[in-house]
Amino acid sequence: MTNEQAVSLTDQFVLSTYGRWPIAAVRGEGCYLWDGDGRRYLDFVSGIAVANQGHCHPKVVEAIKRQAEQLIHCSNLFHIPAQGLLAQKLCSISGLDKAFFCNSGAEANEAAIKLARKWGKTQKQGAYEIIVAEQSFHGRTMGALSATAQSKYQADFEPLVPGFKTVKFGDFEAVKKSISSQTAAIMLEPIQGEGGVVPAPDGYLESVAQLCEKENILLILDEVQTGFGRTGKMFAFQHHGIRPDILTLAKALGSGVPIGAMLVGSKAAQIFAPGDHASTFGGNPLATAAALAAVEVIEDGLVQNCADVGAYLLDQLAALKKRYPVIRDIRGRGLLIGVELNQPAGDVVAACREKGLLILTAGQYTLRFLPPLLITREHVDQALEILASSLELC
Ligand SMILES: Cc1ncc(COP(=O)(O)O)c(C=O)c1O
Repeated sequence: MTNEQAVSLTDQFVLSTYGRWPIAAVRGEGCYLWDGDGRRYLDFVSGIAVANQGHCHPKVVEAIKRQAEQLIHCSNLFHIPAQGLLAQKLCSISGLDKAFFCNSGAEANEAAIKLARKWGKTQKQGAYEIIVAEQSFHGRTMGALSATAQSKYQADFEPLVPGFKTVKFGDFEAVKKSISSQTAAIMLEPIQGEGGVVPAPDGYLESVAQLCEKENILLILDEVQTGFGRTGKMFAFQHHGIRPDILTLAKALGSGVPIGAMLVGSKAAQIFAPGDHASTFGGNPLATAAALAAVEVIEDGLVQNCADVGAYLLDQLAALKKRYPVIRDIRGRGLLIGVELNQPAGDVVAACREKGLLILTAGQYTLRFLPPLLITREHVDQALEILASSLELC
């Protein structure tokens, strides 16, 4: 199907919830994506931090094929071997104790919010409040949206779910002051992705983790975007020598097969009982077989490659900043990098796309780079050549 045919079909029959680009994605391989007119793009979007393993990684494709021939779905009323193996793998690489599976990042956060509520009710005299950060992003369902402290996402959908208290991201004193006997949890992203690629300042997550320990509060980290090698460690919290009580995951977990997960440490691993929470598709045979292969691919050298090539990308961007005063700031870690401009970033994204490079924005002024973790320095050089020529237009 050509780009034009796909655009026309979507416009006619699909609800208009996305500002879509005028191209149809029809094939992917590694860090390249092809459109409906046969054009190839260097993909520094990765389906928004999903194809960390590269598009259609052969090991993931093989696992999907093998499982599809055996059993695609069964209910969670049964034991699902691949689900057990995936849970074991995730607990082993995170240091947490138990997993719950769902289908998306928003759902993983819904599970975390419910778990924190029940933990507060049963373990902390009815505490129910969750402290969240300004400019956060946790998803579009009502609970996750209520935790997403950005009015541009929330305003049209009020009233929100009550029980969320917002503080400035990175301000430890503000967190401390907002705590009360009603506080059940603090929920943060280690690097705010949608909020503009804003890493937590040095020492912040460590101090919040200590405070949670001292005050008997659950620490929920949302690593839907930062997880699975994206920041140069398997999980971003591992840069900080801390461990959350609840970790939410999705995106790269299935390398494109929809799956989300909530991992829980010992403080809250026994809180949910049968009937408390569920999902028909959550952790089904196909999704968990795919995810098991996808996680193994990440473990097989991609985390280190991300750290190495990410450092190179940051260096090269710093050099570019000297040549282009339109670049105001460069932020991020591993291969989650934001380049803030002193003008809206949308035109640069469009110019890069015209020249064969796919990148994203994060907020109005920031370009966001989220390439597959298998990229090489040569790919970075190609991308930055296109970026530089697009910045000439600013
Ligand atoms: C940090 C974070 N949490 C949650 C979500 C929501 O995930 P999903 O779109 O899979 O519901 C996102 C999506 O971008 C995210 O970046």
